[in-house]
Amino acid sequence: MNSSGYFAQSQHGFSIARFLLVAAAFMLAIAVVFAFLHVTSTGQIEAQGLDFETNDELTVERGRYLALAGNCASCHTAERGEFMAGGLAFETPFGTIFSTNITPDPETGIGNWTGEEFLTSMRRGVRPDGQHLYPVFPYTAFSKITDDDVVALYAYLKSIPAVRQVAPENELTFPFNQRSLMSFWKVMFFKEGAFQANVAESAEWNRGAYIVEALAHCGACHTPRNFLGAELADKAMAGGEYIDEVPGGAKRPWSAPNLTPASNGLGLWPEEEIVAYLKTGMNKYVESFGPMNEVIMNSTRHLGEGDVSAMAAYLKSLPPHESSAGVAADNSILGMGRTVYNLHCGTCHLPSGLGDDESAPQLARGSLVVQASNPASLINVILYSPELPDPPLPTKRRKPMEEFQYLLTDAEVAAVASYVRSKWGNNGGRVTAEQVARQREAAH
Ligand code: HEC
Ligand code: HEC
Ligand code: HEC
Repeated sequence: MNSSGYFAQSQHGFSIARFLLVAAAFMLAIAVVFAFLHVTSTGQIEAQGLDFETNDELTVERGRYLALAGNCASCHTAERGEFMAGGLAFETPFGTIFSTNITPDPETGIGNWTGEEFLTSMRRGVRPDGQHLYPVFPYTAFSKITDDDVVALYAYLKSIPAVRQVAPENELTFPFNQRSLMSFWKVMFFKEGAFQANVAESAEWNRGAYIVEALAHCGACHTPRNFLGAELADKAMAGGEYIDEVPGGAKRPWSAPNLTPASNGLGLWPEEEIVAYLKTGMNKYVESFGPMNEVIMNSTRHLGEGDVSAMAAYLKSLPPHESSAGVAADNSILGMGRTVYNLHCGTCHLPSGLGDDESAPQLARGSLVVQASNPASLINVILYSPELPDPPLPTKRRKPMEEFQYLLTDAEVAAVASYVRSKWGNNGGRVTAEQVARQREAAH
């Protein structure tokens, strides 16, 4: 949890405070140099030729669709809270950030915001008072939304019921509680600007790229981030981590698998199975569970078939980002894993790992979660069972998977995870008992 523990063990004999000071000065120096080259603006965008008064039915309806594609409601509606009234907590390595009220309430929502102010928050990540927003609000993606679509989103948000509700105060550690410091972050990691079509590609490819990159922000979870929380552009969609709050307030990390067409990523699924998964929450191989539930249930399944196909085609066109499979598990671990599998998993997932419609998903070159470089989500599934969508999807499965947290030790979970990652042509590498322990700790 506390990174200062790491610094305290440092062998180099300098104090933590001095180290942090030097690091801060260094960052500042870099930031100043960058700032000369490229200044982040906290000013409002002057929108020329945009009519933010537009509120005809067609525009409002288009805005509603775009809000579904951007999944605004999942983040801006708290559990059992009012629609879009904010207050949902987001766990980051730097503390807790709460989503805000984006209903048209004039005092606590965005009712008094001008269209330009709304455009500035979406495109630039800046509030009407000139303060920077935190990128938990995925404006690094939303910046790419076109002017016309921002107008439609604005018209839609103005049309929903106003709710009076103030968002709770963020709980961030110093220095991350200083919004002004975000200007350095932005200089280094944020590129402002609407999506530019690639004329060398088809209209379908461009539509898919636009939805995936600008609206659906799949990369927010599926792209790895650096130590300052910025997405690594050269590893776009190659697999990231997402921290979820579990009932009781503890934080559980999840791995989001590789969405490039790599051998442990979307290379495993033909385009039509990607479409089926995003459109219905299930395909030939798997069913939705965990953090993907809200992506699929609240967003992608409401999108038109054409848009979902375009997303799938775009993802399949990305350069495959092959990652190292990690250390291979040795035979004693695989032997133990086989025993656990045959005893506890094989009845449903079958000895072949192929599963079937009635019993369980396909673990043999089917589920991306099984072979993801980071096994956190695979371990979560085994320890806590797959968390199903609520309300549930119609399923042909006879019996849900149970949890194994009380039945299996860390070593047994690690062994069975290593086994399913290495068997049947899978190439995922070993899982350690320490990795399992990490997923258990998070739940308590
Ligand atoms: C992944 C979660 C997430 C998604 C998806 C998301 N938001 Fe947000 N949004 C946030 C958080 C968190 C904040 C608060 C950020 C802060 O305090 O700096 C925020 C802030 C905002 C703000 C600034 C409000 C203010 O009072 O300063 C606007 C406007 C906004 N979001 C609109 C949208 C729209 C429109 C969508 C859908 C297209 C959307 N958001 C989708 C998490 C999200
Ligand atoms: C809030 C974070 C988040 C967002 C946003 C997100 N994902 Fe995921 N995704 C995950 C996590 C975590 C997993 C692994 C656990 C699970 O399936 O829920 C996952 C799993 C997947 C899988 C593999 C499913 C399986 O069972 O093998 C696919 C495919 C996928 N996501 C596609 C997408 C696409 C396409 C988008 C954008 C439309 C997207 N995801 C957006 C977090 C996210
Ligand atoms: C009673 C039958 C049953 C047993 C026993 C069982 N599972 Fe499952 N498993 C399921 C079902 C059903 C799902 C699909 C749940 C969903 O995602 O909606 C599932 C999902 C999974 C997934 C997620 C696949 C994906 O990407 O969607 C993994 C991984 C998995 N099981 C591994 C295991 C392992 C390892 C064991 C043994 C320790 C095991 N299961 C035991 C029925 C079972």
